[in-house]
Amino acid sequence: MENFTFYNPTRLIFGRGQLEALTTEVPKFGKNVLVVYGGGSIKKSGLYDHVMNLLKGIDANVFELGGVEPNPRLTTVNKGADLCKRENIDFLLAVGGGSVLDCTKAIATAAKYDGDAWDFISHQVEVSEALPFGTVLTLAATGSEMNCGSVITNWETQEKLGWGIEAAYPKFSILDPVHTFTVPREHTIYGMVDMMSHVFENYFSHTTNTGLQERMLESILLTVIETAPKLLENLESYEHRETILYSGTMALNGMTYMGMAGDWASHRIEHAVSAIYDIPHGGGLAIIFPNLLKYAVEKGVGISRFVQLATRVFHVDPAGKSDTDIALEGIERLRAFWTSIGAPSRLADYDIDDTNLDLMVEKSMFAGPFGGFHTLEHDNVKDILKMCL
Ligand code: NZQ
Ligand code: ZN
Repeated sequence: MENFTFYNPTRLIFGRGQLEALTTEVPKFGKNVLVVYGGGSIKKSGLYDHVMNLLKGIDANVFELGGVEPNPRLTTVNKGADLCKRENIDFLLAVGGGSVLDCTKAIATAAKYDGDAWDFISHQVEVSEALPFGTVLTLAATGSEMNCGSVITNWETQEKLGWGIEAAYPKFSILDPVHTFTVPREHTIYGMVDMMSHVFENYFSHTTNTGLQERMLESILLTVIETAPKLLENLESYEHRETILYSGTMALNGMTYMGMAGDWASHRIEHAVSAIYDIPHGGGLAIIFPNLLKYAVEKGVGISRFVQLATRVFHVDPAGKSDTDIALEGIERLRAFWTSIGAPSRLADYDIDDTNLDLMVEKSMFAGPFGGFHTLEHDNVKDILKMCL
């Protein structure tokens, strides 16, 4: 293992009816509360009214910022930060999916910064402070509810960048599986692809002696693979929503991959694609990840980890097969699984052709070669994107 320090201060409040915890949690942090939400799903589901009623009961001055976009935008972050400064906001409450949570993290940080939020999102300026915030998660996918990461898109420059600071951990996150019942089928699928991808980004690692971490990561994959078809049969199954919600949190809260150096190349490429085409994150990953893995196998990178995945998770029978064939069969089974649950497999599924191929490569190369497991140069990224067309 690599040396590590583990720190995660988010209070995770999980289960049916847990929204009531707002009445005890919010007053710990502030009185002028900004509720941040997305395009209206929480109004349709009734969650908005429920949250507002609970906040009324604790004598808070409530302000609101709705309309956070999927793939949240810098313009919304700056708008939110202005509102915080103008109204002396001292606590933010994000109610929504990963996009709302990520946007709230950036608003909370920008509220303590004199200048454009892009300065710290693009890592040009270091910041360390943020207003405290909590979250009510409505979509299982990103893990944003229990990590300090955030991904923001600057639509003007067509850049989608990840950033994170310690102050951007939520103070608390409320996860009630019932709040995810209304997630549409396609976003339920994208969410499951995203959480599996977070596992892969850490699993494909050259760090040695990480047997426990590998098995914990494999257990998340096995659990999602087992649960996904059942959940898609019944989107309002409490039991299956609960399993997937917990899986999403555990896939990216740092607990299952301590001391492992991960890869993160698929995410880098996906962010470049959605910065230009604004496609859903999980949909992009479903297209890119299997192709990137296949490319790594063809280049002979880290074959033993692929063989382990194929045999332990995808139950490939290794008898009489070469390691390369076992590895490729595992990737084929991953592809087949994602296709079976309805995830896209080609950029053409989003009407993306090779028109902006070079631009997508350029956007992903903004910090030079990348990928902790298989380092990708300009031409490698181009080859992989061509495989995705
Ligand atoms: O905006 P509303 O109306 O709320 O609708 C959303 C949105 O249209 C809808 N939705 C959410 N909860 C719902 C619901 N509809 C009905 N019922 C509910 N309960 O779903 C749509 C997608 O929501 P979004 O928040 O965009 O999805 P997700 O949670 O997948 O977040 C994606 C964003 O997170 C970033 C992605 O790049 C993308 O920008 N990521 C953040 C990470 C992090 N912070 O750690 C890591 C990830 O790898 C990822 O990059
Ligand atoms: Zn992701």
